[in-house]
Amino acid sequence: MNTLSVDLGERSYPIYIGGNLISDPQYLAPHIRGRKVMVVSNETVAPLYLDMLMAALSEFDASSLILPDGEEYKTLETVNRIFDALLEQHYDRHATLIALGGGVIGDITGFAAATYQRGINFIQVPTTLLAQVDSSVGGKTGVNHPLGKNMIGAFHQPQCVISDTDTLDTLDDRELSAGLAEVIKYGLINDKGFFSWLEDNMQLLLQRDPHTLTRAIQLSCQHKADIVAADEKEQGKRALLNLGHTFGHAIETGMGYGRWLHGEAVAAGMLLAAALSNAMGWIKASDVARIETLLKLAGLPVRAPSSMSAQQFVDLMSVDKKVIDGTMRLVLLQDIGHAIITDEFDPDRVLEILDEYRENA
Ligand code: NAD
Ligand code: GLY
Repeated sequence: MNTLSVDLGERSYPIYIGGNLISDPQYLAPHIRGRKVMVVSNETVAPLYLDMLMAALSEFDASSLILPDGEEYKTLETVNRIFDALLEQHYDRHATLIALGGGVIGDITGFAAATYQRGINFIQVPTTLLAQVDSSVGGKTGVNHPLGKNMIGAFHQPQCVISDTDTLDTLDDRELSAGLAEVIKYGLINDKGFFSWLEDNMQLLLQRDPHTLTRAIQLSCQHKADIVAADEKEQGKRALLNLGHTFGHAIETGMGYGRWLHGEAVAAGMLLAAALSNAMGWIKASDVARIETLLKLAGLPVRAPSSMSAQQFVDLMSVDKKVIDGTMRLVLLQDIGHAIITDEFDPDRVLEILDEYRENA
């Protein structure tokens, strides 16, 4: 078992990474304040792991709430179901919510915890690769709006993150690949050496070699923890974690939540960002090709969906949290391992890239 730390002063917290952690009470208990705990999960994950987690909570007054599965349920209506359950069962401000599931459950549960009685404790128990390398760390919580992805939310840090790598055994291949998109993202924005390591080790990752997967999770979490510690509320460099996300969120919203997985949309978005960066005279064409090769090797899409017009894309991209006073900003690449946030790109080039990098173009 490895422990990393997200250093945020008195709100610092550990990330535990290893096998067989869910059923071990020693990781949970020190981070639960009161007696009452509610585990929030979904109808796919609960049958697999809820009993194990509830057994580890035997010394607490713990209940569970099972939500429907899917990005389309990442809504305020679903958050309200959590509030209903908390109020019906008289949960007070000392209660703790535990999110057991992927990024959707983590984001919804974290937002409920951020807002119930103006904020209660919560713990992340991520069970997808994407959630273990990204969404469970850093305190971004929230839900989607029909007009924009993740548009309603709050920063609210968990008490701890318990990443049980054994849970990845039951994840299907498409979801594993979606998580690899966010792993590749850290190499692209911050760490050329890690990108090369991923090129060398992608086959082992796809074969779920435990040592290689754990290493990728640790390195990803270390990158995320460092960036969050430096810029918790995204006033500066944390925005770099959104590489590919402005394009990706447009795909998720435009195609209908849940059609493209978040990681898939981010993968295509990262290649679009790389291609635009090259068109602006920054990253080399040979490096764009390298990125495309690695994303494809990871089983990820590298083209925009053909059913969305370039103009529809750009309209959706303008609903983005990086827009300031109406000016769109994008995370683009100077090089592999060197991302920048900038508004100095040519909007006509964006339309050209969206036409060129389209399925069946
Ligand atoms: P997800 O939560 O929908 O999980 C993917 C699928 O895998 C679901 O069907 C889920 O039920 C299933 N599943 C989960 N764990 C499983 C397991 N161990 N075995 C078998 N099936 C399992 O999707 P995700 O990719 O984990 O997360 C995507 C969400 O995370 C998006 O909403 C995205 O916006 C959000 N996100 C948030 C942040 C953040 O910083 N808060 C960062 C990145 C992504
Ligand atoms: N996933 C982007 C962030 O946490 O900032």
